[in-house]
Amino acid sequence: MMPICILTLFGLPGVVSFAMGPPLSACTDMFPGGHGFDAQNANGSLPPFFITVNSTTYRPGDIIQVFLNSTAPWFFEGVFIQARRAKCNSPMRDSPVGTFKTMPNEDFVNPIDCSGITASALAHYSHNHISNRIIYWIAPSQSVGHIYLRGTFARNKRIFWTNVFSSFIRDSSIPDQTPEKCEVQSRMTGGSRSTLMITFPLLFLTVLFSFI
Ligand SMILES: *[C@@H]1O[C@H](CO)[C@@H](O)[C@H](O)[C@H]1NC(C)=O
Ligand SMILES: *[C@@H]1O[C@H](CO)[C@@H](O)[C@H](O)[C@H]1NC(C)=O
Ligand SMILES: *[C@@H]1O[C@H](CO)[C@@H](O)[C@H](O)[C@H]1NC(C)=O
Repeated sequence: MMPICILTLFGLPGVVSFAMGPPLSACTDMFPGGHGFDAQNANGSLPPFFITVNSTTYRPGDIIQVFLNSTAPWFFEGVFIQARRAKCNSPMRDSPVGTFKTMPNEDFVNPIDCSGITASALAHYSHNHISNRIIYWIAPSQSVGHIYLRGTFARNKRIFWTNVFSSFIRDSSIPDQTPEKCEVQSRMTGGSRSTLMITFPLLFLTVLFSFI
């Protein structure tokens, strides 16, 4: 009962907020709902931020170097990065894969535990003005198909982009499969599939338990 209540709170957008970095409730849709604004890409604006990787293929356990860059004069104050399966009809498409590591002395981003998986996402924990960062993604120990990195980059509370993608990082064991990028929500309202998937079952549980 207790764990369910806690989970329910985290599933409801805007109920819990932290001073720095995304709340775990944002792990699925990677949308900063607490900001109270649409993403810039909701109206077709292209992000001035880039995610570049040093390899477009992986094998289990590989380390991939990742650059987070901005185009001058832009910089970012907030960032949220995950790796996702490049298969939009996968039931696991909203779950993070692999883990993240940062450089020694990193003062802006650190790994966080999304979906109960240690270091499965990377997020800011301070509000420095950042133009470039190097981070590392470590492929899972088992093959999970083609993947890509996806990011949400915030210049400030009002101006941010969701759906910032790296190139595909292909699973070398399945060269024939075609990878896909799966969009997440960019608007405050209008309900993305992923938000509904998380919020409704939890709401249902809340209602259910309030009757017991
Ligand atoms: C996108 O356009 C709509 C309609 O013009 C507007 O209400 C909204 O604020 C815009 N969002 C952004 C992020 O510019
Ligand atoms: C990418 O960077 C990682 C970490 O520095 C390194 O281990 C790996 O060999 C690099 N991959 C390629 C293809 O250069
Ligand atoms: C991206 O950032 C890294 C790390 O600071 C830097 O080495 C690299 O040159 C940058 N790339 C671009 C295109 O700015």
